[in-house]
Amino acid sequence: MSATRGRLEALIARLAEADLAYHRDDQPIMDDAAYDALKREAEALRDSDPALAATLDQVGAAPSGAFAKIRHRQPMLSLDNVFEQAEFAAFCSKIRRFLNLGTDPLQFMAEPKIDGLSISLTYENRRFMRGATRGDGSEGEDVTENLRTLADLPVTLPDDAPDFVEIRGEVYMTKRDFLALNQSEARQFANPRNAAAGSLRQLDPQVTAARKLSLFAYARGAASAPVGKTHEQYLRTLTRWGFAVNPLAQRLTEADAEKFQQLIAERRAGLDYDIDGVVYKIDDLALQERLGFVGRAPRWAVAWKFPAERAISVLRDITIQVGRTGALTPRATLDPVNVGGVLVQHATLHNEDEIARKDIRIDDTVELQRAGDVIPQIIRVLLDHRPADSVAFQFPDHCPVCGSLAIRPADEVVRRCTGGLACPAQVVERLIHFCSRGAFDIEGMGEKTVRDFHALGWLVSAPDIFRLPARAGEIAALDGWGETSAHKLAAAIEARRKVPLARFIFALGIRRIGEANARLLARHYGSYQNWRSQMQAAGMIGSDARLELGSITGIGPSIAEELAGFFAESHNRTLLDVLVAMLTITDETAIAAGGALSGKTIVFTGTLAQMTRPEAKARAEALGAKVTETVSKKTDYVVIGEDAGSKAAKAASLGVTTLTEAAFRELAGL
Ligand code: IVH
Repeated sequence: MSATRGRLEALIARLAEADLAYHRDDQPIMDDAAYDALKREAEALRDSDPALAATLDQVGAAPSGAFAKIRHRQPMLSLDNVFEQAEFAAFCSKIRRFLNLGTDPLQFMAEPKIDGLSISLTYENRRFMRGATRGDGSEGEDVTENLRTLADLPVTLPDDAPDFVEIRGEVYMTKRDFLALNQSEARQFANPRNAAAGSLRQLDPQVTAARKLSLFAYARGAASAPVGKTHEQYLRTLTRWGFAVNPLAQRLTEADAEKFQQLIAERRAGLDYDIDGVVYKIDDLALQERLGFVGRAPRWAVAWKFPAERAISVLRDITIQVGRTGALTPRATLDPVNVGGVLVQHATLHNEDEIARKDIRIDDTVELQRAGDVIPQIIRVLLDHRPADSVAFQFPDHCPVCGSLAIRPADEVVRRCTGGLACPAQVVERLIHFCSRGAFDIEGMGEKTVRDFHALGWLVSAPDIFRLPARAGEIAALDGWGETSAHKLAAAIEARRKVPLARFIFALGIRRIGEANARLLARHYGSYQNWRSQMQAAGMIGSDARLELGSITGIGPSIAEELAGFFAESHNRTLLDVLVAMLTITDETAIAAGGALSGKTIVFTGTLAQMTRPEAKARAEALGAKVTETVSKKTDYVVIGEDAGSKAAKAASLGVTTLTEAAFRELAGL
């Protein structure tokens, strides 16, 4: 670990302690000036680690866990990004292909992308009932009372509003209010977004009320009746209901997007709030419904971000980090440089080919860019600044952490340490991942704690985490701990002995099984026992289980191979057995449980006339079905389009129910 990162970790720990003392215990342990000095030092180091930078953003706000959780009736999603016209055009053609629209220009509503924090507001019988932060998208924090203090928030809706409606928008702080706040308070916020987040997550609503927060409403959540037929009508209705809607929102066709992008970029500096791009949303709500979602983002909207900020600096060192799968990742250390208002000290170098391709060397002068939250990247070397004695960078062929051989299979770009779990870097990174937010989400088991406990020999593999409560006494005796915090950690661990299947699968840290794929697997197999036995059976290439696995939409043969590889290792199977004995893994209820096609397995074959194959697939999945490629005895329906071939014949021979396109549409409520 670099000294910078260690220092940043220590600063964050100290600031978090001060936050707890201040917010929870009302017993400040330092004065505002001291707090500020620590915060400023931490901000200057924030780029040494993106994960720590995210943690740093939480500093100053109420401790997580202080607010009750609220489940969003409909998940709060994120948006895919584009940065240039060609990418936007590709986004449009994808929509056209999905909907089979030909070349008709698409109609969009374009709105500035507000740099604040998104919230969901629930109205029942036209009264404001609850408001929550986005949280992890499925579950946010209950900030109802704080939201009530916002002048822009209507407390009641007029008679034409549905009985139940969720309205989404962005809470932000104007630049003017931000400057005034930073002047009046000894405690400084780094930017208006941090100030808005810190102010909304206050335990005392009076504090929120004193910090001026604003709100733009811009998106739909669940509702008992539709509100408008187009997004434009929706926004107009919101305005009539008393919400603030961004005045720059405009309806336009795809051909006008580039001009609009330019216009908003020119007006950006003059606006009293921070924006970082423009969101383009398909205007027709019926088309939005048809387009649906992929993963965590809608197909019907995209964020076109403003161009990345660039700067020149000198690359001083290339260090190699080892991830939880043993991947050796090169990282550049630079002379600190300000890129668009953020002090940058590190940039990603991706992999060894990338270094060779750009011929990046130590002591080179380089141009780097940074876009949004993305880790800064080096875009080119300024060759006329290259020192005369410069030599090409030699990528190591041994792991810098454990010294094992690092090999690179012929068809891969990544070199990996062969040390496996004997390599401390891999063990620690895996354990950090295991405890992290999308996985077991164990409060208090952050990076630092995992590293410390590993160093003490208490954490060697995942099951050790669940043995920690038995060490509560020893933990309490450690420096910086105590009875209360040790007890809290033990309770947090115990609380996670019950875990949903998707989180469990994700926590295992199998290569290429991120949160989305883990969810697909959990949904498909339902229970741990079923998943486990199917994965083991899938070890045999050509087996039914392997074919089924590879044909799950979104999984595919190469990910199937990765999973089969994991299960082929006996130490992985042993690890699973030990872990599972300590846990209760809850079955996955299909996202659309109770959906019209819940639990059904469907195969599409032939050409559909009224919808494209991807659209049909997406619709079926949204209704709870599994869509696979191969017909077997387990298939419930085969939907037969025109010119269907062998799959139709196979369905007939196996006696599987076949449906015409019209019958499928009826079943799918279309
Ligand atoms: S629409 C289904 N409109 O951007 C997605 N989002 O990167 C609905 N955001 O989490 C989002 N301004 O916090 C939308 N005018 C706008 C927005 C906006 C800011 C944020 C929002 C979202 C994030 C996605």
